[in-house]
Amino acid sequence: MERPASADGRPHPEELVGARVGRAKSALAIRPFRRLYTALVLSSFGDWLGFLATTALATQLVDSFESKAYATGGVLVFRLLPAVLFGPLAGAFADRWDRRLTMVICDLLRFSLFLSIPIVGSVADRDSSLLYLLIASFFIETVSLFWIPAKEASVPNMVGPDRLEGANQLTLIATYGSAPVAAAVFALLSLVSRALGSGFEYFRTGPVDLALFVNAATFLFAALTVYRLEIPGGPAREPGTKAPTIVASLREGLRFMGGTPLARGLLVGMLGALAAGGAIIALGKLFAESVLAGGDAAYGLLFGSMFLGIALGVALGPRALGTFSRRRAFGPSIIGAGAALVFMALVPNLFLVTMATVLVGAFAGVAYVIGLTLLGLEVGDEMRGRMFGLVQSLMRIDLLLVTATTPFIAGRIGVREGPYGVSINGVSVVLLAGGVLAAIVGVLAFRQMDDRRGVPLRTDLLTLIRRTAEPLSYAGLFVALEGGEGAGKSTQAKLLVDWLQSTGREVVLSREPGATPAGQRIRELLLDPATGGLAPRAEALLYAADRAQHVAHVILPALERGAVVVTDRYVDSSLAYQGAGRALELAEVARLSRWATGGLRPDVTLLLDIDPVIGLARIPDSPDRIELESLSFHQRVRQGFLDLAAADPDRYLVVSAVAPADSVHEQVRARLTALLPPPGEGAQP
Ligand code: TYD
Repeated sequence: MERPASADGRPHPEELVGARVGRAKSALAIRPFRRLYTALVLSSFGDWLGFLATTALATQLVDSFESKAYATGGVLVFRLLPAVLFGPLAGAFADRWDRRLTMVICDLLRFSLFLSIPIVGSVADRDSSLLYLLIASFFIETVSLFWIPAKEASVPNMVGPDRLEGANQLTLIATYGSAPVAAAVFALLSLVSRALGSGFEYFRTGPVDLALFVNAATFLFAALTVYRLEIPGGPAREPGTKAPTIVASLREGLRFMGGTPLARGLLVGMLGALAAGGAIIALGKLFAESVLAGGDAAYGLLFGSMFLGIALGVALGPRALGTFSRRRAFGPSIIGAGAALVFMALVPNLFLVTMATVLVGAFAGVAYVIGLTLLGLEVGDEMRGRMFGLVQSLMRIDLLLVTATTPFIAGRIGVREGPYGVSINGVSVVLLAGGVLAAIVGVLAFRQMDDRRGVPLRTDLLTLIRRTAEPLSYAGLFVALEGGEGAGKSTQAKLLVDWLQSTGREVVLSREPGATPAGQRIRELLLDPATGGLAPRAEALLYAADRAQHVAHVILPALERGAVVVTDRYVDSSLAYQGAGRALELAEVARLSRWATGGLRPDVTLLLDIDPVIGLARIPDSPDRIELESLSFHQRVRQGFLDLAAADPDRYLVVSAVAPADSVHEQVRARLTALLPPPGEGAQP
């Protein structure tokens, strides 16, 4: 695949357009990314398992309820603390050190640290074990801090701009989707070890130790995988220059962030979206109890809906946005999350609150993917590690603050009588304020980042809604005839038109290339042997130009009148001749045609299939430029058509063109009769 390469390593604006068409899975077609992704899936899983195991272990090492709470909290604090202390620093390292080696060393360290916890536990007393657990947690998290920016900064170089959004979708799904899987596995491990009973006496804590071993193994695997990877890009220095000190490079990173509206907008927005989600997590339990008068089940429902929402937003958001400008969509998605949060605070009804929670999650999820992708796309390689480092530490601090302060504030407000006898609940007040705050942040982000000033947001939103609601609507029927040389398309087209007219319909017979005056001139250029060799891309563009004219001036007007349009050749000819025949990339030719036609596709395509040996023998003495091509070219074209038909059997009717014309026509009629509305119905003039 082609990599963008501008002087500063940043993608060109026109390449960013490609970012919107990629599908999530296409990033996996890139082998190094697929490898890295496997390692990532495993180590995310291992990380969650380790998280569950260490918190469980902490409670096992102490006795009273109070100290259990402190021990769990201790593990959490020790895991969040490094981000506050070293987060930005770690990012600066990702811009200085070899990113691959950084990842490998980090994974090896995490492997050793996780492995050491059960080993120390089996020799030390309980107090020392707990102390060691806290220290190890601190170091594990510190190491992760160095790993994450190195990874995030590498991915854009590995997949290129057009697949970055898809890659980020996959990464987020792996990071958060592995949590429930890890929880299930942890539960299973507990069951198994209890069932095996005595067999586990060797380990003091059974399932916890087992989980830690599994977890350690995932990091070893990740280290080996990444070690064998080739990772393009990364820190490069002019020979002879000295590396700036870490502090200087960090300062440079901060200055960049403060001075770049896009980076500022992204950061503020991501923190806002996270705070909205964090507020639900932090206040969920209180909210469920005091406002919804529900118990643990209601809390569980809220928690689950929130993650469901995030998953939906991450997985479906980019698809739903289509080509909507990402810089433009970022702010509004945070406003959406804020609005849903406000709604949640105002309407104390479990069903509506659940729906609103899904929405908060979904909007936050969309914002998250967009944010990560824009950071990767629009922040140059040399600055990327620092940006991701800052982002990750600020996000953790954000989460820490929200979870620590919101319950406290809600508690201070408590439940009291407000004006007009309305009862005011502190939890609702905090959620409301959080929602309003998120919406404001969304507006700020939008102001900083919008790249389509002058075009009202409403216009773009309407386009988006129209695109999803009614792709292209017309009253008529659109039939395309396709096939290789000498398949008898013209004969079949005439028979078809005669029959359709005999049923009382308006029928328009057309063809490509050359159905319009401009198309006629393009046709001469294309088919005259005197034109000589055309570059395949030039040829594809000329056919597409003819087609655009054809759709705009002939096909669409007729379909809108309610007519049946029969065209002798259409998009599939380009796919077969220029794609399969000239060996251009099929997806590119398809994209070109989609653009030329505005996405108009035939309702049915009749493929008249014939062996080129027979077909070419049928054509007259003066062959055109295309007919003069080699037999193998025409064989590729035939196979191209057959592959297209096989991929979309609902839209194709494949008929062998060797049979007599009448029998071919019979088959065509049988298929079309089922599709046609009775004459006189619909938009007949
Ligand atoms: P035409 O004389 O219309 O041929 P046929 O009777 O076989 O339809 O010539 C059209 C030629 O152009 C034909 O050889 C196929 C080729 N062609 C393409 O290569 N790409 C296209 O997109 C289209 C529409 C036609």
